[in-house]
Amino acid sequence: MAIDFELLYKECELIFKSKKESAEQLQELCDLLKKKVPYYNWFGFYIAEKNRPELILGPFAGEPTEHVRIPFGAGICGQAANTAKTFLVNDVSKSTNYLACSIKVKSEIVVPVMIGTSGGGTEVAGEIDIDSHDKDAFNSADEVFLNKLALLVAQDVNALRV
Ligand code: SME
Repeated sequence: MAIDFELLYKECELIFKSKKESAEQLQELCDLLKKKVPYYNWFGFYIAEKNRPELILGPFAGEPTEHVRIPFGAGICGQAANTAKTFLVNDVSKSTNYLACSIKVKSEIVVPVMIGTSGGGTEVAGEIDIDSHDKDAFNSADEVFLNKLALLVAQDVNALRV
């Protein structure tokens, strides 16, 4: 079943038109996307600390994970934080720098959420992280959708930073 990502994006936008707290909006988004996309088996956010190169687990939908703090450079999430680029792993069993959450996970995509700085540059405020139980689960349509989503959530992700 092909996903209509344009329609799905519109549903996501509605969440951010509400006046709810950032954490609540992001949680609603996680729940929605885990439900609507069958191969998004774990959908969550990692939030970058302000004064330390470390990611902290934010809102998520799916099984609880032991990886509640991830230093920049560690695992797929930490590597994506270092490069500030989307990191797609089609087969996690072939990855040498990977933090396993569940043996069911076969592929993963991490998309950095960027925020403008007062100096005019950009920095990683956090990340969207998705695990799939299917190998090769993600394609370019997911990437386009998730990049749009990263812009949509940027303010809320930034608001959760400590
Ligand atoms: N697999 C990730 C860790 C986070 S979990 O997927 C929720 C990684 O290698 O960074």
